[in-house]
Amino acid sequence: MKFNLVQNNELNFSDGIIVLPCFESEMVSFKKLDISSKIIELSNKMLKEEKFKAKKGEIYFFNFAVENKITNVILVGLGKKEDINLKIYTTSFIKAIKKANTLNIHNIFLAMRPFDSIDYDLYVKTVIRSIILNDYKFDKYKKQEDDKKEETIFNIILNENCEVKENLIQRAEIEATCVSYTRNLVNEPANFLTPQDLASEAEKSAKEYGYEAIIFDEKYIEQKQMGAFLSVAKGSANPPRLIVLRYKGANDDDKIYGLVGKGLCYDSGGYSIKPTSSMLDMKSDMGGSATVLGAMNLIAKNKLKVNVTAVIASCENMIAGNAYKPGDIIQSMDKTFIEINNTDAEGRLTLADAITYSIEEEKVSQIIELSTLTGAVLIALGEDITGAITKYDYLYEDLKKASKETLDELWQLPYYEDYNSLLKSNVADLQNSGGRYAGSITAGLFVTKFAKDTPIIHLDIAGTAWSEKGDTLHKKGGTGNSVLMLYKYFENLSK
Ligand code: BES
Ligand code: MG
Ligand code: ZN
Repeated sequence: MKFNLVQNNELNFSDGIIVLPCFESEMVSFKKLDISSKIIELSNKMLKEEKFKAKKGEIYFFNFAVENKITNVILVGLGKKEDINLKIYTTSFIKAIKKANTLNIHNIFLAMRPFDSIDYDLYVKTVIRSIILNDYKFDKYKKQEDDKKEETIFNIILNENCEVKENLIQRAEIEATCVSYTRNLVNEPANFLTPQDLASEAEKSAKEYGYEAIIFDEKYIEQKQMGAFLSVAKGSANPPRLIVLRYKGANDDDKIYGLVGKGLCYDSGGYSIKPTSSMLDMKSDMGGSATVLGAMNLIAKNKLKVNVTAVIASCENMIAGNAYKPGDIIQSMDKTFIEINNTDAEGRLTLADAITYSIEEEKVSQIIELSTLTGAVLIALGEDITGAITKYDYLYEDLKKASKETLDELWQLPYYEDYNSLLKSNVADLQNSGGRYAGSITAGLFVTKFAKDTPIIHLDIAGTAWSEKGDTLHKKGGTGNSVLMLYKYFENLSK
């Protein structure tokens, strides 16, 4: 696909299609866009006759011929003007483009309608990025069909009075590349993406984008006495890897921001084994680490002026004669004894040691931790919304602010300390599972304990990292959710 920014006086819509966004109970004018009067006239006729009401996401297609040349038009509803936001704007265009694809039209004009109260550059960039991501496919294990498809050209009609910053298309493309990278890692099956493979991927990315990757094997992990991480890892034939990524965009003595991502390349549940259907998508349990990697790539690519160090404790949760068992008592890197009452609550164990390691060895002074941690977050917030748990509200506020510009949804769950009682053990300092009630909160309490006095926010992306069926903006599978939110958070800091 190809993108052109086009001028008003270059427009020739014949044998192409034009997408016109419209608000409810408003006629189309597009004065400044200089779109041919015939298109405007017919569009308004459809609106007047209520063939098209411009409801949010509504699509209406028509065409007409002048001197044997056909002009195709897709009207797309934006809903009520006062309700417009980035997501509605973007999904409306994507719906129109999906329609254009079914019509097999490869020359698409998009009237990037400006109106008050929007950041035009952000809106246009988001639409372009979403168009690129709409084309995302994970088909490397499918026989490639060799019928060459015609390349689609997207002509972005910019309003001359509205500002877009430099390299608009390029910025959108880079973002799409980094989100796709995360999707690819999540979609990659566990037999092709072991902890060692994830480590190699990290090394490759580090080289390509310009940051440091240091990979540690099980000997080092043992030496560091990361007993919680090792307990989870030991039942797998594929050895664990500790992956450390360092990006230096600021001075050496400046603050180091920490990222921690869950890197379970497969989660069978262990002896507290998952039922068949729950196990099916568990190759995606490294979503946190994939998100962190995508974000590191984007941060480094855009040379943000911050220091960010990411730590990933990658392994598989499997069953074997030497696997950890319910009832075991294990000791984490920070010497906490943990009674295992459920081997499927393994993520928090790997994260506990990754967090301790980040603070003690990498000297990070705050941590954003992302993990596909609980099924309970899907029950609480569904597939669209990431659950945040922290006692440092400013971390939540800053991430929430970033999320508003990236189509990532974030909501805070209570950091309710009384539920620490659910993590009490009779025989050890802690037990790893707090049971079914408030499962996402007890998981968050467990993980964030290990940061001690270092500010930390836990983001449970079990719902958002993976789309079970796909939706307007995602194919079924890895979503790349939160990559851009993390990037934007650091961009805001580095200003
Ligand atoms: N990887 C799962 C969480 C998960 C569930 C991710 C569904 C994506 C979709 C995690 O390791 C897990 O199994 N959590 C348990 C915790 C429980 C034993 C306290 C869960 O959610 O059931
Ligand atoms: Mg995977
Ligand atoms: Zn699990």
